[in-house]
Amino acid sequence: MAARTALVLALALAAPPAAGEAFGDPERGEELFRRQCASCHEVGEGATNRVGPRLDGLFGRRAGAVEGFNYSRAMARMGADGLTWTFETLDAYIANPRALVSGTRMSYRGMADAAQRGDLLAYLRDFSDKPRDIPEAEPTALKTVPDLDPAILAIEGDPAFGEYLSSECTTCHQRDGSDQGIPSITGWPEEDFVAAMHAYKQKLRPHPVMQMMAGRLANDEIAALAAYFATLE
Ligand code: HEC
Ligand code: HEC
Repeated sequence: MAARTALVLALALAAPPAAGEAFGDPERGEELFRRQCASCHEVGEGATNRVGPRLDGLFGRRAGAVEGFNYSRAMARMGADGLTWTFETLDAYIANPRALVSGTRMSYRGMADAAQRGDLLAYLRDFSDKPRDIPEAEPTALKTVPDLDPAILAIEGDPAFGEYLSSECTTCHQRDGSDQGIPSITGWPEEDFVAAMHAYKQKLRPHPVMQMMAGRLANDEIAALAAYFATLE
């Protein structure tokens, strides 16, 4: 009997959550929204663009797509690349806006607590079409950039090794930092560079060429490249 109960319990724990089942608490999310987002964003019926774009109908929407809002070049580029707002990409953007969109104009430092982000997204989801049909990823399954193993961020990059590897990059990115359609990657803080590369590697950032480039690099190679490009003005 005991074994049977244990088996049933194990199955219950392993069962995937029903579609649309909430992981976050929208009421706590509303409170977080009021304190941390509402100074710049409106959401809900009649919401308008303020410092930031209105956030209703967010899930499934292309990044940078609200009519009449003047986005940063970086956000417009991400939208053109195909970045679409899903639970996963929103989670990454709210956790660390610059890791997902380096040049974003949203001056918000990020929300480190995954449970709080789940609450906030559960709240925002209610202002999308058919909110209950939007699948929510299980928080533990999320591949968010700041959840990068701190050991990865702590790897000390070797700039000489980075210079050696960089010839693969400088066919496109200019060493002198000029930006002719391909963004400049020189003089970045190393941590931002590492976070951006892992966002490609984890396919949170959409660009296919960069996903492939980053996907081939080991963690110490990414650290080395970050160290090298940081030394270039
Ligand atoms: C200081 C003002 C400010 C705060 C605070 C702020 N935002 Fe933003 N937000 C912006 C701006 C400005 C943009 C446009 C960014 C760009 O063009 O790079 C933006 C863009 C966004 C986008 C992309 C929308 C789109 O149409 O693609 C989302 C999603 C977002 N913010 C969510 C949030 C959430 C959630 C919070 C609270 C946790 C928040 N923001 C806090 C100013 C802010
Ligand atoms: C075939 C051309 C090409 C090559 C080779 C290439 N990149 Fe890129 N890279 C791009 C383009 C185009 C973008 C802008 C992509 C986007 O919109 O997300 C980009 C974006 C980036 C970004 C983010 C820039 C930003 O402003 O957000 C980083 C960091 C980066 N590349 C690093 C590298 C490194 C390191 C290498 C070498 C290992 C490399 N790239 C090789 C074309 C290339």
